[in-house]
Amino acid sequence: MQRFQNKVVLVTGAAAGIGEATARRFADEGANVVLADWNLEKAQAVASELPVDKVLAVKVDVSSMASVQQMIDATIERFGRLDVLVNNAGVHIPGTTLETTEADWRKIASVNIDGVIFCSKLALPYLIQSKGNIVSTASVSGLGGDWGAAFYCASKGAVVNFTRALALDHGAQGVRANAVCPSLTRTAMTWDWEQSIRDKFNERIPMQREALPSEVAAAIAFLASPDASFVNGVNLPVDGGVTASDGQPKVS
Ligand code: NAI
Repeated sequence: MQRFQNKVVLVTGAAAGIGEATARRFADEGANVVLADWNLEKAQAVASELPVDKVLAVKVDVSSMASVQQMIDATIERFGRLDVLVNNAGVHIPGTTLETTEADWRKIASVNIDGVIFCSKLALPYLIQSKGNIVSTASVSGLGGDWGAAFYCASKGAVVNFTRALALDHGAQGVRANAVCPSLTRTAMTWDWEQSIRDKFNERIPMQREALPSEVAAAIAFLASPDASFVNGVNLPVDGGVTASDGQPKVS
């Protein structure tokens, strides 16, 4: 499939994990891709494996409006337009409300909430011009609560509802906004988790395994593509069926 020929796609958090897989997926489908990440060296390493004339690696701190503006400016300077924004950069800090600190909240809120809002705000004028769209990486942790991840859940809940509000406000301008809601995905964010924790996840995931980053990337590419031309304001679980459960235990 070459659904993104001549399109410009900006992916935040593109140096690793879901963002890296997403950047690769869009490149495979013909897009010009901007890989934006705090870790420029890693973003450049990924970019070096993509077509040189269709790729740009940019350093960004999504929690800083000034840094996000520089990222958008660099994108427009290089490619002249923006068709898809993928708000993917995110951080996870475990803990209950009592166990976590003000600094933990500031970190999570500034990357996971401010980052999505700042990138969307500054990308929107260009997306309105191109009739483009936004796809954010939320989480199943934004659709329901998790034990021991209070601030993360709060941040992803914000992304889920911000996605709906974006869809309402900008649908008439031809801009769609959607999000993916992955469950456990095998990335740096999670790969040092103990096997006993993974086993517990597998008990609750009907497909009994983690997602691969490429599986989340495929859903992001679908939502960004013309195949989803009338899909707007959706928070799509990419979760092997986790959210199909009403929460009652498996007894047989
Ligand atoms: P990861 O840790 O592998 O990659 C995250 C990337 O974001 C890194 O390259 C990091 O340098 C970058 N980043 C962090 N803070 C940044 C900042 N302030 N500015 C710019 N870049 C920054 O994580 P992963 O798992 O690929 O996560 C991607 C998204 O998926 C996140 O929003 C995460 O919350 C979400 N997610 C992950 C799940 C998982 O199980 N791995 C499940 C559900 C959602």
